[in-house]
Amino acid sequence: MDTQAVYLSIPPGDRSIEPIKGECDKVKLFKMIKMEWIVETFDLTRRFNGLIAVDSLSIKVKKGEIFGLLGPNGAGKTTLINCLSTLLKIDEGRAFVNGFDVMKEPSMVRKSIGLVFQDPSLDTKLTGKENLEMHARLYGMSKEKRKERVNEVLQLVELEDRASDLVETYSGGMRRRLEIARGLMHFPKVLFLDEPTLGLDPQTREHIWTYIKKLNEVEDVTILLTTHYMEEADHLCNRVAIIDLGKIIALDTPENLKNSLGGDVVRLNVNNYSENLVNKVKELEFVKDAKNFDKTLTLTVEYGERVIPKILDLANSINVEVESVSLQKPTLNDVFLSYTGRSIREEEKLNGKDRLKMWGRMRMLRRGRK
Ligand SMILES: Nc1ncnc2c1ncn2[C@@H]1O[C@H](COP(=O)(O)OP(=O)(O)OP(=O)(O)O)[C@@H](O)[C@H]1O
Ligand SMILES: [Mg+2]
Repeated sequence: MDTQAVYLSIPPGDRSIEPIKGECDKVKLFKMIKMEWIVETFDLTRRFNGLIAVDSLSIKVKKGEIFGLLGPNGAGKTTLINCLSTLLKIDEGRAFVNGFDVMKEPSMVRKSIGLVFQDPSLDTKLTGKENLEMHARLYGMSKEKRKERVNEVLQLVELEDRASDLVETYSGGMRRRLEIARGLMHFPKVLFLDEPTLGLDPQTREHIWTYIKKLNEVEDVTILLTTHYMEEADHLCNRVAIIDLGKIIALDTPENLKNSLGGDVVRLNVNNYSENLVNKVKELEFVKDAKNFDKTLTLTVEYGERVIPKILDLANSINVEVESVSLQKPTLNDVFLSYTGRSIREEEKLNGKDRLKMWGRMRMLRRGRK
């Protein structure tokens, strides 16, 4: 039996796990946990001076999957990654990575993970190869193993040709690829990617997606990534947890999340917004949901193409001028909108003070719902 089994911890209150009775059951338990969930959190909470950054959050990440945490700025994504990678202490709850308790077995957790930080962390005065070498030395890899692995990961992210160039001469996309390669150097079981494509242009972003998919398959590594790009979560992830103000608000495959809205999305951009239009539209039997931001009315409807003329007639009848109409299948942003009443993009525009106010409001609402 693998020696790791000895370190396995049983999360409190998990009723799916029977008590251990003898060696045989230990083996079964080992297989069950090890095979199924590689990252687990149980009511994980982390505060910063009274602000709850991660709020009693529970997730389970399957071995081998690409799991996404999607949420706006300040949602708590980086804080969660930092807790899971032992960089931050957990205030309440528990977390397990590769079967190891994040609080009690931090060194075993660190050996199990690779981490690509949200902020750039390469030494730009070193070459690509030297950056990888340095990381491998920190992990105590032998000279032969280092050499072999450096070449392997460089190949994976197609940077062999630039390996001997200083990182300061790399493009943004190349730097990100090198950081991903570095995270893989010590054969981690789980790779945490904190905003892997932040600030990159759409073409480079798609390029990085290809590498992430490839390494997930070739290296057989589970990936937990954070993003506030819904296209990224949609395109890359097997399952997505939408996170807002430190809490999971929805968790499923991108397909199921979008289907859960149960309809097409019609967007009307109007010149002269009127509350009257929103109220009247809500009365239409085929309208399942109506939300308004600025001068954009977002409706969830059945058979969008058929009902648009009726909606336009209604707007016309109350003298609301419609500038443009669009019809689309739901996106993950629409899922976020439907759960929070805000859009991820709108949320990004909020400054710190506004966010604090919003946070207070949401907490009041949640309390009210209990
Ligand atoms: N070291 C810290 N001290 C105080 N507050 C912090 C600290 N780190 C994070 N926070 C706060 O915790 C909340 C969550 O921040 P976090 O960085 O986890 O969000 P995020 O989802 O990663 O956002 P982004 O998309 O901008 O990276 C924010 O309100 C942030 O201001
Ligand atoms: Mg972050």
